[in-house]
Amino acid sequence: MSPALHRRDLLRLLAAAPLSVPPVLASASPATAAPGILKPLPPEVFTIRGTNAETRQEALRDTGPLTPADRFFVRNHTSTPVIDERDWKLTVWGGGLRGGGSVEFGYGQLRSLPSVTRTAVVECAGNGRSFFTTQQGERVTGTPWTLGAVGAARWRGARLRDVLERAGVSPSAVSVLPRGLDDPFTVDGVDLGRVRRPLPIAKAVDDVILAYEMNGEPLPPDHGFPVRLIVPSWIGIASVKWVGDIEVAEAPQSSPWDTRFYRLFGAGYPPEGSSPLSRQTVKSLVELESGAVLEAGRRHRITGRAWSAHAPVDRVEVSTDSGTTWRAARLCDPPARGGQTRWTLPWRPERTGPGALLARTTDRAGNTQPERTVHNTQGYLFDAVVRHPVTVV
Ligand code: MTE
Repeated sequence: MSPALHRRDLLRLLAAAPLSVPPVLASASPATAAPGILKPLPPEVFTIRGTNAETRQEALRDTGPLTPADRFFVRNHTSTPVIDERDWKLTVWGGGLRGGGSVEFGYGQLRSLPSVTRTAVVECAGNGRSFFTTQQGERVTGTPWTLGAVGAARWRGARLRDVLERAGVSPSAVSVLPRGLDDPFTVDGVDLGRVRRPLPIAKAVDDVILAYEMNGEPLPPDHGFPVRLIVPSWIGIASVKWVGDIEVAEAPQSSPWDTRFYRLFGAGYPPEGSSPLSRQTVKSLVELESGAVLEAGRRHRITGRAWSAHAPVDRVEVSTDSGTTWRAARLCDPPARGGQTRWTLPWRPERTGPGALLARTTDRAGNTQPERTVHNTQGYLFDAVVRHPVTVV
């Protein structure tokens, strides 16, 4: 809160806000742009973090269970390529194909295969990373996301399994390596090549989609046009955007995205890190800006979202007293595998001053958010309950 803003001014601001919606002070951030992202990034919707754009939690408040494409976070290692679908093709190749050749699929061909549509969350493995530092006092490297590196969308596309079968995948294939068409990624002057990450064949033929539609529209350029992978329940890096080729192999494959990044390093892990990360975690977020100002003695409708990569959401509990007592929130969507579940809870704060809202999700497999997440140096898979700061006036 601005120190120049007096209680009287605040109350006037609050009085102007629509009934029963927790009033939020408007953000004063300037117009934003991120190098390499093509879609508009209004400051009330996105926070720019380098080449990435994080969705503001409060920008989800008036949306449905799916994240609209124009509010969906963008995680780009380099920049969004502009690809004409008429020039695009997918090359499937490698020793894991019978005959060891290569097979090409054009955009029209891919669209003519049987299609599947499913809701899936795409969530960066580093979503929530900043809380290792702000809540747990621990050092981590990487983009300091809060909780907005996640989105849920309805994806339509061809099954990767069907494409692999048509390409002649051999029964001895064990791994596939999809690769993006965006510019190669360079770290500390070292060119790591194009973004690519292996997928075990068992996952590749299970539920992976070569998606060409997002929420009923062609994929937007920033989200992978013309075709991206959607790897349900896995960390976002698996869902390679702008896919151009897939190498099929009879031996395990690797890339910097599963050796150097996207493993857990630190005390308690071997020097080469944990095994490569696959599944995401269980989380919740509050649809308010950090430090939102709420009026005392008035009933507010607190809203948020919950999701789990393991099972449908079972319940969300909210604490307004730092975790001493918890109340069950009402779930607004029928919990389902793959998407996010909106929740709501009425709250009439009485005591003024700074405070926090804590939301804790538990899924039907019994996974729940812990008080702390075990540290890893790159700050992946933060799943602990987040203390969402608010001020009651
Ligand atoms: N694919 C390519 N080719 N290049 C990328 O930079 N980023 C990955 C993944 N696929 C990336 C990519 C990461 S880390 C995430 S979290 C998701 O895309 C983000 O998808 P989105 O930008 O559509 O939200």
